[in-house]
Formats: sequence, structure tokens, C-alpha cells
Amino acid sequence: MSRNKSHYVCQLCGTSHPKWAGRCEGCGEWNSLVEEALVSTPGGLKKTSGAKGRTLEFQSLEGQSQPLPRRVSGIAEFDRVAGGGLVPGSAVLVGGDPGIGKSTLLLQAVAALSTGGDAVSCLYISGEEAIDQVRLRARRLGLEKAPVGLASATSVRDIAASLESIEAPGVVVIDSIQTMFVDNLDSAPGTVAQVRASAQALIKLAKERGFSLILVGHVTKEGVIAGPKVLEHMVDAVLTFEGERGHQFRILRATKNRFGATDEIGVFEMTDRGLEEVANPSALFLADRKGEVSGAAVFAGMEGTRPVLVEVQALVSASPMATPRRAVVGWDSARLSMVLAVLEARCGLMLGGKEVYLNVAGGLKVSEPACDLAVAAALISAASDNPVPDDCVVFGEIGLSGEVRAVGQSEARLKEAEKLGFTSAILPAARGRQAKGASKLQRREIGHLRDLVALIAGRAPQRRLEEA
Ligand code: TYD
Ligand code: MG
Repeated sequence: MSRNKSHYVCQLCGTSHPKWAGRCEGCGEWNSLVEEALVSTPGGLKKTSGAKGRTLEFQSLEGQSQPLPRRVSGIAEFDRVAGGGLVPGSAVLVGGDPGIGKSTLLLQAVAALSTGGDAVSCLYISGEEAIDQVRLRARRLGLEKAPVGLASATSVRDIAASLESIEAPGVVVIDSIQTMFVDNLDSAPGTVAQVRASAQALIKLAKERGFSLILVGHVTKEGVIAGPKVLEHMVDAVLTFEGERGHQFRILRATKNRFGATDEIGVFEMTDRGLEEVANPSALFLADRKGEVSGAAVFAGMEGTRPVLVEVQALVSASPMATPRRAVVGWDSARLSMVLAVLEARCGLMLGGKEVYLNVAGGLKVSEPACDLAVAAALISAASDNPVPDDCVVFGEIGLSGEVRAVGQSEARLKEAEKLGFTSAILPAARGRQAKGASKLQRREIGHLRDLVALIAGRAPQRRLEEA
């Protein structure tokens, strides 16, 4: 019986299919299967003469371990997201849309690492750009004097051979993993098999020689890093670099980190001289606020350990269409539908026939449920044309019956608001007593969404809404 020599692998989820199909059985994606040669992997442990397993010595959970050594770049926003610096022998995947600034960020990072106090030796290997293009960027960033080793290569064999022949570097950047190939595989660069094999070889090398490996990965239009799942579990940390192309803000977010917290973000601003750190993102996100206008509420959010204040904007307008438009930027559209439904069913605010636009100003993507109340405030304000007081921040989670639920870290949120000159806060009713050293912000506690409608619309909600 002849055995299949190839199989079809989904380029999104990595599911293998014996036959071609239009749709992946694993993730349901259309047209994502690519033929790849089947690499035989011997199953099970065969008895071979002389090969005997080593007996493992089991240890207790308790014990002394050395703190991890870290390679610190001095770019605080980058180091924090990486968990306090790059760990020797580890692999980090930096993902993001094409053109978002990954190459710029990493060139700046290696330049800072190589010139900083520790003077780590750094190599930057580009498979996408020629040496001249990288040099041009370095000159633009004013980094051409940094002692970074530059190469343009795509063959993993060449890279491995070069890394073995020289003294082990401290940090190696591969830009990008999708351009790399291993010559004993038939598939084209960028396919799951190639991405996986290349990454595997490079990660093994990093472990053996003790350098920190940074892999750049492009994100496909669906928002996953190509060869995604396979890469994500092979590396020690996954950082995503996000932002709206038209905005100058860029956010570096840790989505996985074996050596640090995963909910940290680093905020940068893309300028004509590269990426600049933003030490106080709230001030920047709120910089363009224009006094009291209806349809805007300031959300006191948390990104990791850091409080971040952003403005949530809503627009409600009459719709000529049978199914009115709903457009959301920077928040979850399913969550918006839920808030709209609760406003309608529990508070009588009829927005079903209206077009609703929601926008988180500045290009930040908010994922906290604590943003519900700020979204509701912006919507009520837009619908009633009454502004939310402009010295006021809002946060709280909304339940399906319209109840407002407490959220974590309220004090940190309030402190940040106080620091930026806010004097009051709309927040969930407190459970128990207030913490010591609590902020002096005036608290308007909301138990049910109805109270928020009354507070913002300024009078009995039902009457107001009939007029609207
Ligand atoms: P790049 O780092 O090449 O993105 P990626 O590697 O993620 O594809 O950055 C691309 C964009 O950044 C490009 O459109 C130009 C812009 N840019 C600046 O605005 N300022 C700068 O100093 C640099 C180097 C790039
Ligand atoms: Mg690039």
C-alpha cells in the first residue's frame, strides 16, 4: 500500500489534513490549507541496543534558585514588558501588523543594549531588508554609531553556521521569522512547516549558546501571528506591538511571558526620529480633550500594574437603514451590543433604531469589562446630549440585570485620576469599608445603571427619552 508523502496543513491553526479541503476542520478558516511534505516522526520509544534512559532525580518545589540574569536595554517601556529585561537563552516573539514599527523598535532596542552600561553584543539579521535599508533607518534614528552586527540572510543554516563560528553574542534579532527557511524542507518560506522548523533551530541554538533570541513575526489579517499557535508555545514570551496606523501611539503588550507578568504594556509614540517612550500615557491620551462635550466619558482603566486614563467617545444618530450601523474602534463590539441591550431592557433607553459609533480615543485597545460603565456613560450622554462632568472619571462592570459590579484596583485608578486633576469619580458602590489612605476624589457610587441614566440625563430617564 502506498503511503501519502504529503499532507495539507492549515496556515492559521496548524491542523493537518490528509486530503485537500476548502475549509480547515480545525479552525473553520477557508482556503488556508497548503500542501507540505510529510516528515516522518517515529512514534513511541523503540528498543535500540545500548540506548538506555538516564534515571531522573526528582526535586522538591522548595529550594534556592538564582534570580534570573537580565539584559536591560534602558528603554524602560520595553524592559518592563519583557519582564525586566531579556533573559539569556530565552526566545521572545514580537508580533504585529506590517508597518507598525517592529523593525524600528528592535533596531532601537539592540542599539540601546549594545551601547548601554552592560554593552551586550548584538546581532541584527534581516531577511526582509537589504543592509543599505537597515543602515538608512539607523541613520534616520541617529543610531549608526551603535556597535550592532548587521547581516541580511534568510537561510537558517547560514545563520547557525555564522553564530557557531564567532563568540556567542548577547542578543540576536531575526527580522522576520516568516522569511527564514531550512533547506531540508520543501515548503516555501512563510509556511507553517518552515516557520516552525526555522524557529525550532534558532531557539535550540539560543539555548545552547545562551543568547537572547528575538523573533519578529508578522500578523495575518485575522490578527494571529502566522504559524501562530506553533510559534506561540515554542517561545518563552510573546509580545505584540499594536496601534492604529493613522495614530502615533504604539503599544507593546505581553500576551505570554514565562519570566514576567503578562498584562504589562509599554507605550510609545512614533515620531519622525523613531519610537519615543511615553512615561505618562494618561496625560497623552487625554491631551486632546475639549472641555465638556456630550458623548464623551473618561475611563479610568488598568493596563497591567499601571493605571491608564482614556477617553471613550460615542455618537448616536438617527438611521435611515433598517439595520442601523454599529461601529466600534478600540473595544469589543459584542460587549457594546450587551451594554446597548441592558440600557434598552433595564433602563428604557431606546437605541435600537439608532446608529451607534464608539471610539476609544488615541488608538488604545481596551479589553477590561470595567470599561462597561464608561461606555454606558458616553452612550447616555450622546443620546441625551448632556455632557458627563468633565472633572469626572468612570469605571465599573455592568451585569445583565443592569446592576453595576465592583472591579479590582479601584484605589490605583482613583489615584491616577487625582494625579491628573480629576475631582470626582462615578464608580460601583463600595463593598465594606474604604481602604486607608484612599484618594480624596468625590465618589458618586452607582448601584444600578438606572442611577447613571438619572445622573447624566439629569432628570427622570423615561420622560427625557420620550422627547429624544
Ligand atoms: P517598520 O519598523 O519598518 O515596521 P515593521 O517592521 O513593523 O513592518 O516601521 C514602518 C513605519 O514606521 C514606516 O511607515 C515609517 C514609520 N517610521 C516613522 O514614522 N519614523 C521613523 O523614525 C521610522 C524609522 C519609521
Ligand atoms: Mg520590518
